[in-house]
Amino acid sequence: MGVVSGSPASVSASGGGGGGGAADKQAAFAKGLEGVIGGQTGVCSIEQDKLIYRGYEIHDLAEHATFEEVAFLLLEGHKPSPAELARFKAEVVAERALHPAATAFIESAGGWLASGRAVPMDVLRTAVSILGHTDVDCQDNSPSANLRKAKRLLAKIPTIIGHMQCVIDGRAIIGRELGGAPDLDHAANLLYLMTGKRPSKDEAKVMDVSLILYAEHEFNASTFTTRVIAGTLSDMHSAVAGGIGALKGPLHGGANEMAMEMLKEIVKDIGEDGIGSAKVDAWMEQAFVSKRKLMGFGHRVYRNGDHRAGILMGLGKKMAGTLTGTFGGLPALKWFALGEQVQGIMLAKKKIFPNVDFPCGMTYFTMRIPVPQYTPIFVAARITGWAAHISEQHADNRLIRPLSIYTGPALKKWNG
Ligand code: SDX
Repeated sequence: MGVVSGSPASVSASGGGGGGGAADKQAAFAKGLEGVIGGQTGVCSIEQDKLIYRGYEIHDLAEHATFEEVAFLLLEGHKPSPAELARFKAEVVAERALHPAATAFIESAGGWLASGRAVPMDVLRTAVSILGHTDVDCQDNSPSANLRKAKRLLAKIPTIIGHMQCVIDGRAIIGRELGGAPDLDHAANLLYLMTGKRPSKDEAKVMDVSLILYAEHEFNASTFTTRVIAGTLSDMHSAVAGGIGALKGPLHGGANEMAMEMLKEIVKDIGEDGIGSAKVDAWMEQAFVSKRKLMGFGHRVYRNGDHRAGILMGLGKKMAGTLTGTFGGLPALKWFALGEQVQGIMLAKKKIFPNVDFPCGMTYFTMRIPVPQYTPIFVAARITGWAAHISEQHADNRLIRPLSIYTGPALKKWNG
């Protein structure tokens, strides 16, 4: 494992994998592996001034590509020709339906979901494991088998999410045989599976772009988790189950749900009339005093803002401007007005920028997507990045095994 120049020197393992001396170890120690380069990848590059997926910049992709094209780019490694894209889409559509065992599990999970014993991310994690049991290629880590499994997971994760929502709502499962509507593109079909309604063009477009923005992000915690698991030569379904476990956390993917809950908490505390007033400043000041982590803000890598946040904020706000009715008791644009006010205070007082999860919360909320499904939808996008990294790790592998500094009791005799 290498380290960035100017940061602690790496500690070369001596002989049978032992570490260097205590001083060397202390010098090389970086809590949370902050600033440590953990590998090489051709999938994604994150810089302070740009985010690139296999050579294409995120604004370019968000404006000109579809999620299916980006999924092909990440999984197959190049921009698809029209013929390649048509084949890829047909393959994914054909794989959307779930094995009856997976559907039966989801139907049986209604009680755990209703009691809160399980949240959708937990049920998604278990359902993905069942998909592994029903996948003929499960134990095969070859590039061709990994690609087949990646397409099946890409196809089926929206179906798991949709079936779960039908069970939560007490509605009949939609798409039991076909996994949705074959004529609908990926993003639109995800929404159809959840609601039973064919989404508007606007809704489908906003969902499609959000999936592009969520698809890949280099060595983030969940992707690195999948690489650590793949690095032991374990299989893709095991790695993806681990990735789901990592992404669930509120410091990572779970922040999109928590960001919306935070905005709802602010409105509950200050009332709709408080939006735009100094009451928001006072609420934020109280949060600062109590050292509260405000969800949807900050980033381990980005120090001058998350390139994706502005894209989704703009799209979500534009769509909100076309919506009538109320959402959680407020007009759609009121949520964005509050969001912009919170963003402004965070920047002015803490110099902390929003990350992609902040605008995601408001956008999905005004699309009437249930909050507990926000992070599962993140998985429906990130499966493309995870699968690309898992395949890359398998193709050029070295077991990932960092060192540690011992802080436990000094040496002593058991019968001393
Ligand atoms: C994602 O890595 C990726 O690429 C992830 C991701 C992806 O696409 O895969 O981009 C997706 O996970 C985005 C991040 C989502 N998480 C959140 O929004 C949760 C809230 N954010 C924070 O917990 C935090 O910003 C992290 C975890 C995201 C990053 O934290 P770091 O790099 O460990 O920074 P830190 O916690 O050490 O904070 C540095 C300072 C601290 O102040 P001091 O204690 O030094 O005085 O900034 C403060 C922090 O308190 N700070 C915050 C804050 N984030 C940082 N203060 C309040 N609210 C916040 N959100």
